[in-house]
Amino acid sequence: MLSSNSRSFFLAALLLTGALPTTAQKTKPLDAAAIEQRITGLLQQMTLEEKVGQLNQYSGREVTGPASNRKTDLLNSIRSGQVGSMLNVKGVQDTRAIQAEALKSRLKIPLLFSLDVIHGYQTVFPIPLGEAASWDLAAIRESAHVAAREAAASGIHWTFAPMVDIGRDPRWGRVMEGAGEDTYLGAQIARARVLGFQGEKLGGTDAIMACAKHFAAYGAALAGRDYNVVDMSEQQLWEVYLPPFKAAADAGVATFMNSFNTLNGVPATGSSYLQRDILKGQWNYPGFVVSDWGSIAEMVPWGYARDKADAAQKALAAGSDMDMESDAYHTTLAQLVKSGQSDEKQLDDAVRRILRKKFELGLFEDPYKFSDLKREKKVLNDPQHRVAARDAARKSIVLLENRNNTLPLAQPRSIAVIGPLAKAKRDLAGSWIVLADTTQITSLHDGLSKRAGKNTQIRYAKGCEVEGSSRAGFAAAVETAKTADVVVLAVGETWDMSGEAKSRTDIRLPGVQEELFQALKATGKPIVVVLMAGRPLIFNTIADQADAVLYGWFPGSEGGTALADVLFGDYNPGGKLPSTFPRNMGQIPLNYQQYNTGRPVTKPGDIRYKSAYIDAPNTPRYAFGHGLSYTTFKYDALKIDKASLAAGQSAQVQLTVTNTGKVAGEEVVQLYLRDLVASVARPLKELKDFQKISLRPGETKTVTFTLTPDKLAFYNRQLQWAAEPGEFQLMLGSASDDIRLESRLTLLP
Ligand code: GLC
Repeated sequence: MLSSNSRSFFLAALLLTGALPTTAQKTKPLDAAAIEQRITGLLQQMTLEEKVGQLNQYSGREVTGPASNRKTDLLNSIRSGQVGSMLNVKGVQDTRAIQAEALKSRLKIPLLFSLDVIHGYQTVFPIPLGEAASWDLAAIRESAHVAAREAAASGIHWTFAPMVDIGRDPRWGRVMEGAGEDTYLGAQIARARVLGFQGEKLGGTDAIMACAKHFAAYGAALAGRDYNVVDMSEQQLWEVYLPPFKAAADAGVATFMNSFNTLNGVPATGSSYLQRDILKGQWNYPGFVVSDWGSIAEMVPWGYARDKADAAQKALAAGSDMDMESDAYHTTLAQLVKSGQSDEKQLDDAVRRILRKKFELGLFEDPYKFSDLKREKKVLNDPQHRVAARDAARKSIVLLENRNNTLPLAQPRSIAVIGPLAKAKRDLAGSWIVLADTTQITSLHDGLSKRAGKNTQIRYAKGCEVEGSSRAGFAAAVETAKTADVVVLAVGETWDMSGEAKSRTDIRLPGVQEELFQALKATGKPIVVVLMAGRPLIFNTIADQADAVLYGWFPGSEGGTALADVLFGDYNPGGKLPSTFPRNMGQIPLNYQQYNTGRPVTKPGDIRYKSAYIDAPNTPRYAFGHGLSYTTFKYDALKIDKASLAAGQSAQVQLTVTNTGKVAGEEVVQLYLRDLVASVARPLKELKDFQKISLRPGETKTVTFTLTPDKLAFYNRQLQWAAEPGEFQLMLGSASDDIRLESRLTLLP
């Protein structure tokens, strides 16, 4: 409907007629009680259709994108108060124009504008799995804050992030969007991201509503196939998959999004167990739940609802407050209420939850407060944002191998930069970016060229594509390698091989990339491999034979700069894997929280009648928490202030860590626990705390952890969260498979 020139004319007309307030009258934000009163007053005025209208969310592509057949009715629905929120409308111009349409409605209730701002809006940060590898909660929070600043300056009120699904199957494409396999790390990161997006309190124009998604257990899709069933024990659900959602709720996350999967037979969208019993009941959650795209109507193909009306009835009853794009509420809910099949009280509760957020954002006082053309221009061009993106990218990079201290590069005379990702830009942004100008992304080749300066020659050959079987580029790549002191080979996945609906049955390096590595290896030149991907990959030949291996994930706008910083040693990598890297597909799903079983392998190779494979070890290629440094660290002097704890008591765990190398570095000190005997078998180790510290060469720091009773607890067979008396093994280490100090602890009856 609104082509770009008519849109700007339309907008100018509105501005000239003063129909749009050009500056917001500064009004004191309403307190909670006043907001509830205002909502009650509005509800009393609202017709049934207007109430249902607040529950409808549609994609803006229909009204701001190229012509579509839905545009007119969608605009009419907006003008008649039949739409509560839009997604995929971005930028001040479009949000102002569409908001102006909504304010033509009888009650002038403003729209919420939402978008998938997952790891940056215009400035792209590393994919969330890459950021998780930093284990740096402050950097992760800052990344979300920068994304919120840019989005809020562009008319966006609400992001569909953080995705807090625990992902333990690298075949699933959305592992790129989360924080990896561990519940404790995932919960800490969930909190950091919520606070980064929302700040301490909603209402500022440098903060946006966050959304904890996808509720719940979406990451456990059977066989790693997206949108598939999820079957799991209640104990697993509560112990592994729910805690990051609870952490987000405790951090004040404004909204939740439910998920496409069924949980033990019931679609999450229709699950009152998840949405009413747990979220709005036990957790007393005050925000609202938006369905995932079309998930309400998808209960029909699931075979859980007869038709859209049945799906709408089930979804509202189950606690799905807003309907993203399935048109089920819009077309059937009023009739369902009139016929008594749906409860108007539940409808009113959903409306109240949605209106509460609009008040908290200040949209009733000033519906255009987030749509300021001047602020948009200033914030989107803030150079500090690229500084933050470079910092986040540096911290996300994981050094997997470094044989003979090949890295950092010792100012070589020439570097052969080879591989299908060497000059890639769009790929470095990864999946889930919405506006980034990908021509502004710094490629690895650009980063190295800038950093190398005139003393080092950079030579380039592509070698091969990411996918496909052509080896036509090998010869030129080999010739280029022969002329250089060192080879930097950039391989991995393309950006669209991970993300939503991007499950892969084979997570080995795609195409002939490992063959290219072997061809280059035959030249005898030192080879540094930089892998970029949205998931753990399998690359055993490279892992075995490369002189050094860096995992860059998809590092974002400043990815090439950050990789050059690490390659030249301007930054000493401190990243640690948030996910296990398997040796082969047959080990999947594989994560570090293994169980001893009744027949553990106690001696390598002794696998007769043991819980083992006859064709591969049980251990991963790279373990959760693994990450090398250009320096080394010594762990020492472990002390616990009390070896026995009475119920409810805490213990202080103390150790020293020394940088025993020649360069400064960062270390993530990880604390793991094992409950040796309990009413349910417990994993061999569980991450219970960590601290990331920086140490100068020779420097020693004392690190202290507090072991609270909560850290000894687990969900027992009665689903009670409780610690049981008995003995615990305490482990301090640099990785889940690199334990440096151990001790015992007893919890007294
Ligand atoms: C998608 C995703 C969800 C996203 C939503 C809006 O299908 O599952 O994570 O926020 O639709 O784009």
